Amino acid sequence: MIFFQNKIFLFVTVSCLFFSNQSIAREFTQTISSPSKLVEVKFILQQDGLAFWSLKYKGDTIFNYSSLGFVLKGNDSLNRFRWIKNKTKYKNENWKPVWGQSSLIKNEYNEIKIELRDFKGRLLNFYMRAYDDGFAFRYETPNQPGITDIVIMSEESRISFNGKYECWWSWADYNTLEKLFYHTPLDSATHVATPFTLKRSNNVYLSIHEAAIENYSTMTLKRDGEQNYKINLAPWADGTLVKTKTPMFSPWRAIIIADKPGGLIESNLITNLNDTCQIKDVSWIKPMTYVGIWWEMHLGISKWILGEKHGATTENAKRYIDFASKHYVKGVLIEGWNTGWENWGKKDAFDFVTPYKDFNLKEVVKYAKTKGVEIIGHHETGGDTESYEKHIEEAFAFYKMLGINIVKTGYAGPVVPVGEYHHGQCMVQHYNKVMKLAAKYKLMLDVHEPIVLSGLSRTYPNLMTAEGVRGMEWNAWSDGNPPSHTCTLPFTRGIAGPMDYTPGIFDIDLSAHSKEREKWNSLDKGNSAVHSTIANQLALMLVLYSPLQMAADLPENYEGNKAFSFIENLPTTWDETKVIDASIGEYLIIARRKENNWFVGAITNENKRELIISLNFLENNKEYNANIYSDGNDADFETNPESLLINEMKIVSTDSVTLKLARGGGACLKIKIIE
Ligand code: NOJ
Ligand code: CA
Repeated sequence: MIFFQNKIFLFVTVSCLFFSNQSIAREFTQTISSPSKLVEVKFILQQDGLAFWSLKYKGDTIFNYSSLGFVLKGNDSLNRFRWIKNKTKYKNENWKPVWGQSSLIKNEYNEIKIELRDFKGRLLNFYMRAYDDGFAFRYETPNQPGITDIVIMSEESRISFNGKYECWWSWADYNTLEKLFYHTPLDSATHVATPFTLKRSNNVYLSIHEAAIENYSTMTLKRDGEQNYKINLAPWADGTLVKTKTPMFSPWRAIIIADKPGGLIESNLITNLNDTCQIKDVSWIKPMTYVGIWWEMHLGISKWILGEKHGATTENAKRYIDFASKHYVKGVLIEGWNTGWENWGKKDAFDFVTPYKDFNLKEVVKYAKTKGVEIIGHHETGGDTESYEKHIEEAFAFYKMLGINIVKTGYAGPVVPVGEYHHGQCMVQHYNKVMKLAAKYKLMLDVHEPIVLSGLSRTYPNLMTAEGVRGMEWNAWSDGNPPSHTCTLPFTRGIAGPMDYTPGIFDIDLSAHSKEREKWNSLDKGNSAVHSTIANQLALMLVLYSPLQMAADLPENYEGNKAFSFIENLPTTWDETKVIDASIGEYLIIARRKENNWFVGAITNENKRELIISLNFLENNKEYNANIYSDGNDADFETNPESLLINEMKIVSTDSVTLKLARGGGACLKIKIIE
């Protein structure tokens, strides 16, 4: 009885506050603007207690009233509030990432924290941040008497579009991000994965994603009404969506806004929304290019398991190390080195510390050290996180003891615990646990079959890269990826963070070893090829950002080919990145600076095109030497993919270069200052 009276008291107190602030208006609103007032966001509390946000960009309403709130376990709605108070904050910082597409990142925004109390007396804080390149909001359920556990059955956040849109999207799937993309009007996109990228009819570009997924489920967007999308969450096996305790912070729901497609790539909104670096000594975190015993397995030339065709032999590893050392590539990945691959798919299949008998791991690491090469270790889990978590400390300590500083992890298979999804909160907890443990052991990570990236690399920069993309492997054993796929990725999946797409294939039609290839994947119809020219493959090394960037082909396919000179010594962390020109899904030209030198990459879709690049990004009154790698006149991704021209010329900032890209083609420039 006393409790009940308390609740009434609270309600009256809060509503007095509410009405004292809003004596006339029927709605209570709070507005914040981005530093240059490009973005204006409004929080709206209706008289009935329902809460919404809306957004204007350059004075134009882009998002209408978009709902907020939750449904908790027991059909318990947490969506009718009274306002308590606000706190505003202005932040303007420049921070230096350990690696990235630029060496200095500006983080400037206005924030409002709106403290709310629901009709049952529960506290909920709502944060909104307005940046000149976008908007983000998140919830906090703070510590409060009487509430410790929170079980979310529905997040009632919605995004309500105003206007006409076309969009680039892939189907939502709680287990995989390895999808092709569609380009359709908004109404065809019924259930989408994020980043979800759109173009408004007035040429405003948007990408919707989430940032800082720490202990929550990952989101998809489900159409629920003409112009409305609801935040949908991958469930636990028991049907609940998020199980947590106070204080709970949801991930940020973020919208990048830009006037050009390239603005989406240049935006740092997703990383900026994450906490500052939690690793004190970051000197061991080193971006690099790598090669590895990998593509040969996907081609079916060699195997992960022990036997006549075993790929990870001591001898083969040394061959890759020799190649890497000779061609200024710093890392060598070795897959299939440990026992257990014969049990892939079974419970507790993999042993993470026992090499196969034809592979001397110690000797290989020692040999690599003498050649100045890093070995990239590999932990395939098949999705069995229970088993991995049991052995992970021992496995990390083992690698570290040998001098291995980088681990590629993999989750190819159904998740154990049985019934859990790859993208649910259970796996978010697992991936984040692995990331933190790897930081403790000073191990860099390349995660395959990951949860979608959300900028956590700002906080844990040892999380170098992730797959979570329909990458190169699909070209080895399926219909593969069309040229438009790689022209779409930087604006969609790439918005989330680095991509281990694994480009750089030179044997485009996969003919070099055709006689030795064995079919091992049911998607393989025997017609696989890389749908690209060699120049396009080189450009992808630059265009698809990853601080660990693989040149995926076999040493024998590279050796003797002058095109590899573009990959030798290629930086994978940059001082500056500019998108010169782009059209989503059609073409993209990107320029990246490392100290005084520039690297330019251009790619096109199934259409050939001529691109004119003005070199005005170079320093005035300086002379540069440019090596240009471009498609041969007769190049075509289907009929003549390996035709390539390499030229050298002197250039200055007032010059422009005309690049002729073949169908599925590309071009690259390596521009060095003449001191
Ligand atoms: C899938 C990963 O994406 C791929 O890179 C790896 O080779 C296989 N799983 C085997 O672990
Ligand atoms: Ca994969």
